[in-house]
Amino acid sequence: MFSLPLRDDARLRPLETWHAEEFAAHLDRAREHIRPWVGPAFVTDDVDGARATIRRYAERQATDGARLYGIWLDDVLVGGVMFTDFDAAWGSCEVGCWLEPAAEGRGLITEACRALLDWAFTTRGLHRAEWHCRADNDRSYAVAERLGMVLEGVRREAWPFEGARYDKQIWGVLASEWRAHRP
Ligand SMILES: CC(C)(COP(=O)(O)OP(=O)(O)OC[C@H]1O[C@@H](n2cnc3c(N)ncnc32)[C@H](O)[C@@H]1OP(=O)(O)O)[C@@H](O)C(=O)NCCC(=O)NCCS
Repeated sequence: MFSLPLRDDARLRPLETWHAEEFAAHLDRAREHIRPWVGPAFVTDDVDGARATIRRYAERQATDGARLYGIWLDDVLVGGVMFTDFDAAWGSCEVGCWLEPAAEGRGLITEACRALLDWAFTTRGLHRAEWHCRADNDRSYAVAERLGMVLEGVRREAWPFEGARYDKQIWGVLASEWRAHRP
């Protein structure tokens, strides 16, 4: 019902269980592109799996935890952003994202993440936000850099994928840095 314009042709809105079929159709276009870079539970194969993902986020949102948002480009669901973790008591959150290939390279994720971080820091008064990614995920850490995040550390070989283990980067931004960096 409610949506936030990212640009003339793109909108950000909560991804809810009634979107399950649309989400599953989008995952058919995104699955192989995102599989190496996101948590395995997010890469589902059918409508029931897509609905289960949305429901898992909805249940956590009900206790003021994680939240899931879709990005619609020309009224087609092309990806989204999320609070993979949100803890008001600790003043801390983690932001994540994904896109199908055709929607890359337009700045949609950076703009959508700005909306989430503005809400976390301004409306909710959080103190810090994190970004976790595989160390070889160039496009992902480029978003963290565009958001003004700082590389805080590397968890060595913390990311298993198809029999290999990859380093995991932790990026972060503080509320004070966000306010100084935000245009
Ligand atoms: C990570 C991912 C979401 C990044 O997508 P992206 O399109 O590169 O990021 P954005 O939407 O912010 O777009 C930035 C790109 O658009 C360009 N762009 C165009 N207009 C722009 C604007 N107004 N503002 C910012 N960037 C803009 C930028 O130059 C950049 O392109 P470049 O990297 O070729 O220079 C995408 O690569 C993806 O889904 N990867 C697989 C899943 C994944 O890795 N998820 C993250 C797990 S940690």
